Amino acid sequence: MKKLYLAQIPNGDPIQQDLFNANGAILVKKGKIMTPRLREQLLRNNIEYFLLDVTGYDEVESHYNHFDDETIRQIEEVKNVYTQSFGNLSSEFERMRKTGRLDKHVIEETAHELVDSIGRYQQVYLGLEGIRRKDFYTYIHSIDVAVFMIILSKSLKLDKAQQERAALAGLLHDIGKTRIHDSILLKPGRLTNDEMRIMQEHSRVGHQIISKELKYGQEIACAALEHHERMDGTGYPMGVNWNHLHLHSKMAAVCDIYDAVTGERVYKKAMLPHEAVEFLMTIVDKHLDRSLTTLFVRNIAVYPLGTKVVLNNEEEGIVVKIHDGFPTRPVVKIPKRGMLRDMMVEKTLLVTRVLNTKHETAG
Ligand SMILES: [Fe+2]
Repeated sequence: MKKLYLAQIPNGDPIQQDLFNANGAILVKKGKIMTPRLREQLLRNNIEYFLLDVTGYDEVESHYNHFDDETIRQIEEVKNVYTQSFGNLSSEFERMRKTGRLDKHVIEETAHELVDSIGRYQQVYLGLEGIRRKDFYTYIHSIDVAVFMIILSKSLKLDKAQQERAALAGLLHDIGKTRIHDSILLKPGRLTNDEMRIMQEHSRVGHQIISKELKYGQEIACAALEHHERMDGTGYPMGVNWNHLHLHSKMAAVCDIYDAVTGERVYKKAMLPHEAVEFLMTIVDKHLDRSLTTLFVRNIAVYPLGTKVVLNNEEEGIVVKIHDGFPTRPVVKIPKRGMLRDMMVEKTLLVTRVLNTKHETAG
């Protein structure tokens, strides 16, 4: 996690990038001038340092040397929509924390923008998921769950209006966490049993906020209440019969677990996408719906853009493009030979190993 201390920013200088608090919400916007007054305000609110690049998108640029111009253009577009969505969601959720209210039109607009953008650049979204180094922040997690909910809705052949409702259910599924105290929400390390019980309240609280305060129907509210339910009845808050759950809740459960295991926590390393896919398949029929999980993993870019791989002909390469619907057969650049291997054309080639070291050294 990259930090910038307030003491490192001189007065009179424009701030070089957006600065975030520990929840991953924007505190100071890029371009703002540091003044003694702003410094005093921040210190009065006990803010001594900021987090940088909570979305993980800045880091993606370090892979640009591998990609062609069109791929880079598409990444930049995705990055803009993602960052904008994140800005909207984090400021509305922070407003919710402080005033108990939010502007639901901003959240609806965010769902609309994401559906539109994923409609055009689904492979870029999927391809970037694995190369963004993510710490686990509630707001980033909410956007990522919404992104996966949209991708899963598309696989289920749901129309755009339905995709938007699934996206809304995803964006809001953890909104109950806005009513949980920072001392528990941001606690580094594992929670005690009592703290865990309080944390688990976010399901009921979230459902209450969405249905009673924001006045959305069950289609949007259900995912908040039921995304921690499990097929064998071991989930919470109710431990109910899985068959009675809403489709959005079953979808949210898959997306939530996938995003949680591929994100970094203080006490555990992130799984790479191919590891997370294998993990999901070990919990189908026990915790997760088999058909939804199978559909989900069929979409996941198991070898995201920038992944270093070894092929069965012993060549080492870098994934530079992912084909729609064929995540295990990407285009791989072979730097030593100065050529591309398109695994959709060269059908005998297989990925035998992943060499990414980024996650291996992290945590
Ligand atoms: Fe949750």
